[in-house]
Amino acid sequence: MSETNGNGKLYKLDNVSRVFRVGSQEVRAVDAIDLDIDRGEFVAIQGPSGSGKSTLLQLLGALDKPTGGSLSFDGRELTKLGQGDLTKVRSRDIGFIFQTFNLIPTLTAEENVELAMVPIGLNRGKRRARGTDLLEQVGLASRSKHLPSKLSGGEQQRVAIARALANEPRVLLADEPTGNLDSQTADEVVAILRKLSAEREVTVVLVTHADEVAQRASRRLRMRDGKLLDQPAPSLS
Ligand SMILES: Nc1ncnc2c1ncn2[C@@H]1O[C@H](COP(=O)(O)OP(=O)(O)OP(=O)(O)O)[C@@H](O)[C@H]1O
Ligand SMILES: [Mg+2]
Repeated sequence: MSETNGNGKLYKLDNVSRVFRVGSQEVRAVDAIDLDIDRGEFVAIQGPSGSGKSTLLQLLGALDKPTGGSLSFDGRELTKLGQGDLTKVRSRDIGFIFQTFNLIPTLTAEENVELAMVPIGLNRGKRRARGTDLLEQVGLASRSKHLPSKLSGGEQQRVAIARALANEPRVLLADEPTGNLDSQTADEVVAILRKLSAEREVTVVLVTHADEVAQRASRRLRMRDGKLLDQPAPSLS
């Protein structure tokens, strides 16, 4: 459905806000944010608890709509799309990774990855072939028949990365993907994300509390009270 018009902006946010109303209270979870993200960037978002990181990620993932401003993704204005089109964008163009992995416990690693391909209508054989390939790329070829409960945390997150890539999305959105992992395992997971994003030209936007993780990004953003703080110069790594 989406045409890629060369390089350039994947996201363009102009004065984007998400205000929640709870009773008479108003929470400006995301407050008038301007932000461009290029194709292929690896962006880390940091900030204290409650600063709006997850809310911003939900907007980027078309899981939620801004209450103000304009948000364009891959040349389409998401605020103008209906639920049906938003669902298509989510299932075809966006991969999600969560802190708690969210694998289906009764399905093996490969079945978890293959299930993600059902909505795009791949037949069984193609699903199996692509699933095998993806598990190999995250270094888990030998664990494909394992249930999640038989995998370590880092392995479960690698399955979740393979699953997120199943439909060849343009962007991977990760909310604290290393939050439940020790620092060495976190390093390995970030290394895999970096490798895959480079090889597959997938843009990555990752929320993290960990400086070691954010340092590996090509750009670091900081949020406070729903706003983006002044952006430091890009790191050279
Ligand atoms: N559905 C909602 N209804 C009302 N308020 C909400 C809702 N979701 C988030 N908020 C509020 O918006 C603010 C930002 O929340 P958000 O979850 O984006 O923070 P965060 O930066 O991800 O925090 P954490 O690091 O703890 O995950 C918080 O003050 C939160 O209470
Ligand atoms: Mg959060």
